[in-house]
Amino acid sequence: MRLNDYHLRYEEYLVKFEKYALNYMNKLQTRPEVLGESMRYSLLNGGKRIRPVLALASAEVLGVDAEEILPFALALEMIHTYSLIHDDLPAMDNDDFRRGKPTSHKAFGEANAILAGDGLLNEAYAICLEESLKGEKYAVAAKFLNECAGINGMIVGQSADLYFSQCEQEVSEEDLLYIYEHKTGKLLLAPVSMASILKENKSYVEFERFGKLLGLLFQMTDDILDVTGDFNDLGKNVGKDEGKNKLTCVRIYGLEGAKVRADMCAKDCHAVLESIDGDTSFLHSLVDYVLNRRN
Ligand code: IPE
Ligand code: IPE
Ligand code: MG
Ligand code: MG
Ligand code: MG
Repeated sequence: MRLNDYHLRYEEYLVKFEKYALNYMNKLQTRPEVLGESMRYSLLNGGKRIRPVLALASAEVLGVDAEEILPFALALEMIHTYSLIHDDLPAMDNDDFRRGKPTSHKAFGEANAILAGDGLLNEAYAICLEESLKGEKYAVAAKFLNECAGINGMIVGQSADLYFSQCEQEVSEEDLLYIYEHKTGKLLLAPVSMASILKENKSYVEFERFGKLLGLLFQMTDDILDVTGDFNDLGKNVGKDEGKNKLTCVRIYGLEGAKVRADMCAKDCHAVLESIDGDTSFLHSLVDYVLNRRN
């Protein structure tokens, strides 16, 4: 797909998602207001929205209506956003900036930030439960998201990230891939697999393979950008991983080696997309964006 067309299509998905998310979040009323305000502060302030875009794009390849997947895309973005709020807390990565603005705990204090994360997580499940009432495939999609986010998904990945950064023994490539598969991979797998579930599992195996590989690629480039990136592009501080003794691909392969691995992984993503029926040209371009991204 030509770069210009890719950007236009991304923008289309983004606008659809933002409209839906804004409408939903504006309806939330809390007393005290700070809870809703802090939830909106983190959810509605930019972010690349790659997970919702992936959901909408996969749905389009499969012939699933945007309206069917949007609630799940929002639930997923809520879970992702809560994971970022908690990831940034002083007890975890201790970061001051996110999406170009002070992190939740910097803006609202630590206790309110924890609650904003809790609120987003619970709201995500409120959406999933509501959707589940529509029928079995919706319940299956909701269950899948729950598994990707949960203690065998993103949360255990964050636990492993923490564990290996404190580990005194030698760490391995296998440990790195375990972290990748869970902390980042699962929430990038969720949108593509949910789209397939909503189309009675059409191309399930191929989409699953694609989502897993894209998740690996996404965290590789996140680790690389922590070394080579720029605050103004990323909206978050760089150079944090080494100081925190994080197990990253740069630590395992070296910077140049990590870039070679990322290239290889992108090629694998393209190869899987070739095996999927339908127009996957946007997804091909998305892979190239993830590989070459600056933000
Ligand atoms: C950051 O995710 C955390 C990782 C899993 C690497 P994103 O890079 O998708 O962050 P936003 O949503 O665009 O802010
Ligand atoms: C975070 O990974 C993954 C999450 C589940 C939130 P990182 O800690 O590397 O993400 P950044 O670099 O802070 O965005
Ligand atoms: Mg982290
Ligand atoms: Mg972090
Ligand atoms: Mg990082």
